[in-house]
Amino acid sequence: MFQNQVVIITGGCSGIGKAAAFRFAKEGAKLFIADLSEKAGDELVEELEKMGAEAAFARIDVTDAEDVERMVKDCLQKFGGIDVLVNSAGIIGPRARTERYPLDEFRKVMEVNVVGLFNCMQEVLPHFLTKKSGSIVNLASVAGLGGFASHVGYAASKHAVVGITRTAALEYAKHGIRINAICPAFTMTPMLESAMLHDDTNYLDALQNAIPMKRFGQPEEIAEAIVYAASASSSFMTGHTLVLDGGLMTS
Ligand SMILES: NC(=O)c1ccc[n+]([C@@H]2O[C@H](COP(=O)([O-])OP(=O)(O)OC[C@H]3O[C@@H](n4cnc5c(N)ncnc54)[C@H](O)[C@@H]3O)[C@@H](O)[C@H]2O)c1
Repeated sequence: MFQNQVVIITGGCSGIGKAAAFRFAKEGAKLFIADLSEKAGDELVEELEKMGAEAAFARIDVTDAEDVERMVKDCLQKFGGIDVLVNSAGIIGPRARTERYPLDEFRKVMEVNVVGLFNCMQEVLPHFLTKKSGSIVNLASVAGLGGFASHVGYAASKHAVVGITRTAALEYAKHGIRINAICPAFTMTPMLESAMLHDDTNYLDALQNAIPMKRFGQPEEIAEAIVYAASASSSFMTGHTLVLDGGLMTS
């Protein structure tokens, strides 16, 4: 499905981004992984190459515009094009009620989840405009569609991701560029595992219990939706928020 297509995945070394990298590789894509850890990046490239995929890694911080500029330049140099951008880099931030939520943490979550994603879109879009095609898949969250108690920074950032996705979808629809958001509920990745280490099990049990399917999502389940949103199978879909939540938002 993605034979000879080039896919950039930010935050591709872990969790949902990593599952998406393997899923795209199975479809014949060339992967350009961008993340913070050189070691994790090199290991992932090795694994992808073992599967027979072409892959490369760039150590970048999405909040640094120069890093992001370099990511796009390096990808174009290595693979000669870009067809898909998956914005999966993100952080959850602390758990605290709004009046106790530290301002510097709020700024940090907004910087990575919103400014970082915006940087990547700004750098890739001119390239997509030139070739009049391209697909962007942004990792939002159910916390981008509804409230998330004790996570005001995260919820604010994911509502912003939905706003950016819808706005950009309108701007570029007539230019052959589709932009969609994936909105998962709690998915079993290092992000959720790190919350488990810090939080009491009662809290996590409560999260799981709130999901009508009574389980967390798996990164591979989210990767399926990312590939669908990026592919020609969803050619009439743009500005969409695709919810994968075990029924959470319907209850
Ligand atoms: N896991 C969930 O329950 C869940 C639910 C809804 C949405 N999401 C979203 O899905 C995306 C992926 O989450 P995940 O659960 O796979 O998390 P994760 O922590 O497993 O992976 C996130 C990746 O982003 C990278 N990253 C963080 N800050 C970065 C930066 N400044 N520059 C470059 N890379 C950076 C990390 O190094 C990591 O590899 C995030 O945007 C997250 O908000 C996750």
